[in-house]
Amino acid sequence: MARGARRRAERLELRPGARYHRPIHALGIAVPTHYRRDGDVALLQIDNPPVNALDLSVRTGLEALLRRAADEPQVKAVVLCGARACFSAGADISEIASGAAFHSPMLLELHARMEALGKPIVAAIEGAALGGGLELALTCHARIAAPEARFALPEVKLGLIPGSGGTQRFTRLAGPAAALEAITSGAQLPAARALAIGLIDAIGADPLQVAVAWARRLADGASVPVLARAREDKIAAVEPDLFTAFRAARARAFRGQLAPWRIVDAIEAACTRPALEAFQLERQWYLECRASPQRKALMHVFHAERAARRVAVAAPQVEALPIARVGVVGAGTMGAGIAMCFANAGIDVTLLDVSREAVARGLERVGELYGESVARGKLTDEVASAARARIRGAVDYAALADVDMAVEAVFEDLALKCQVFERLDRSTPPRAILASNTSTLDIDRLAACTARPQQVVGTHFFSPAHVMKLMENVRGRASSPQTLATVMALGRRLGKIAVLAGNCDGFIGNRMLQYYGAEAERLLEEGATPEQIDAVIEAFGFAMGPLAMRDLAGNDVGWAIRRHRTLPADERWSPILERMAAQGRLGRKSGRGFYLYEGRERRSDPQVLALISAVSRELGIERREIGAGEILARLLHPLVNEGAKLLAEGIAARAGDIDVVYIHGYGFPAYKGGPMYWAEQEGLAKVIATLERLAPSHGARWRPCAYLRAAAARGGWEHLTQC
Ligand code: COA
Repeated sequence: MARGARRRAERLELRPGARYHRPIHALGIAVPTHYRRDGDVALLQIDNPPVNALDLSVRTGLEALLRRAADEPQVKAVVLCGARACFSAGADISEIASGAAFHSPMLLELHARMEALGKPIVAAIEGAALGGGLELALTCHARIAAPEARFALPEVKLGLIPGSGGTQRFTRLAGPAAALEAITSGAQLPAARALAIGLIDAIGADPLQVAVAWARRLADGASVPVLARAREDKIAAVEPDLFTAFRAARARAFRGQLAPWRIVDAIEAACTRPALEAFQLERQWYLECRASPQRKALMHVFHAERAARRVAVAAPQVEALPIARVGVVGAGTMGAGIAMCFANAGIDVTLLDVSREAVARGLERVGELYGESVARGKLTDEVASAARARIRGAVDYAALADVDMAVEAVFEDLALKCQVFERLDRSTPPRAILASNTSTLDIDRLAACTARPQQVVGTHFFSPAHVMKLMENVRGRASSPQTLATVMALGRRLGKIAVLAGNCDGFIGNRMLQYYGAEAERLLEEGATPEQIDAVIEAFGFAMGPLAMRDLAGNDVGWAIRRHRTLPADERWSPILERMAAQGRLGRKSGRGFYLYEGRERRSDPQVLALISAVSRELGIERREIGAGEILARLLHPLVNEGAKLLAEGIAARAGDIDVVYIHGYGFPAYKGGPMYWAEQEGLAKVIATLERLAPSHGARWRPCAYLRAAAARGGWEHLTQC
């Protein structure tokens, strides 16, 4: 460090290499912004726990501090930073919903003040610079980041577009191609990538120190401060078909949604319209998105995901057990994927199966999946190799003698799983948690096979386990608070969204799915085609229709699970699935199911319609035209009624938990908020009326349950469920 810089740093009480996480202005009062001066540089710090959200108090504070920095003649430059190693997670989400985000000073007004300050401003970024936080940084003359800092405009995940110039400044700094990728996905960019695309100016181990020096250089005229707003170089020569090609490539991914399309429009405007007009258009589209039901639904999901973590496990002080080593029993596709989840989180894994061949196949599968992750750019070669090295194979349960937890992922058969649990109980240390990846079976029966039922729990991963976000943890009758706290914390560590479910046939997800799937087959019997049903559900926004989903999971598997399940007296299973399985129409894996498959492409198969029509004839059902509205209603209502029963039985703690399960495990469109939220938007009274209309002809599951009626009477789920 140069002598001058060291002197200045000392005056600021900045020590080389030290980190500055404490409020700069320690008055002992909880004010959300702090001001400190080092001679000619003013430091403005945002300090609004937990994530430095830019609520009204912060904006008011920053406005006053900017004015002060402008007024003080000694101040030649300004550095903006955040407390607690976090720059800012952006606008306060609850203020966007309430409208307080529009109270003056708005972010837009702060930006105008920053750009008109007449003194250079540099952002010193540690941790997250997200949404409005990044917009604030982009309005500075330069951005200096810590190596582990991360950047995103994640508004799209909330159904919004950045509304304070984010799309415009990002595009001007990093170019439209990078902006399209980053802003339509909302994905976080690491500092190295942000530097590579030109979003930031430098990376430094101590960004505050570097930023102070940078600000001085700008003030001294050693380099010229340029605002993003004034940059034209990256938007000058845009490839002519960039936007057309991007829109075409993302048409399927963005279907039904508003915000991603508006983001593309805003980035295009940045490249094609005068700056002032483009900034105004962005604001107009932000307001349009903010008013949309999609924004409301996605904010519901944001809060529901966080509420799902808050689990009432009786004793409040319970701490999660440390998990450093796990065993995974069953080296099939699920086992391999689960092993990867742990290894990716830095946990050592022993993948165990009955034979050397099975273990070798499992490890080979793991290698292939890591290869795919690298090929898709999800992991670097280095990270994938390190994770892969954490997984070793074994055929002897003695290899599990030092694990903290074991997850059973063998075939869905109770007797087999019981045997595995007996072996695990004998082979693992007494402290170890024993978890089952079952998707339907009774956790208490498995717990009874061990001498440690309090440490037995369900951890239901979704396929492919290393990709799917959901982890449905299942509480057995004897599961201890510590066991539950451990698996919920584990979910977070694995990067999953964990939801706690009670123990029943199918837990939350598959119990609801049972009637959704059954209803799809009833619709087939009555006259609908697989294509029609799937098209309606996919147009609603699901990733996949129910019959395409059956083909993916395997019709033999669906039928085998069904054989073990009991139905209420006035219900029946359609014979369609059994016939499909008997004819070798197993789904994608056999190249034919409800559709014919060539690779990932699906085609209609007239023989399927013949099979379905034969079933209708045998059952004496006269096939008829069924409209899209009826198909949608018939598929969504049983989900809601069954969801209400799960709430009544305490299997799900909150309606929001059910929404989170359906969005992250079953492809329900997040921008419609999940099935329970959807029902509230429809109106619970209307949902009840539809159920009542169909109950006489369609069976017991159509009778609205008492809980649903009570929720309707009280005006929503929230008034009945507790956290
Ligand atoms: N406004 C208001 N509150 C916010 C917030 C925001 N922008 N971002 C996070 N929070 C709150 C969360 O609701 C949570 O509150 P809770 O503890 O009462 O549930 C708390 O801050 C911690 O957030 P959490 O998500 O649990 O922590 P994390 O460490 O897993 O993730 C972030 C931190 C910042 C990465 C993550 O919260 C996030 O992505 N936030 C949203 C950022 C965003 O979309 N900004 C643009 C807004 S338009």
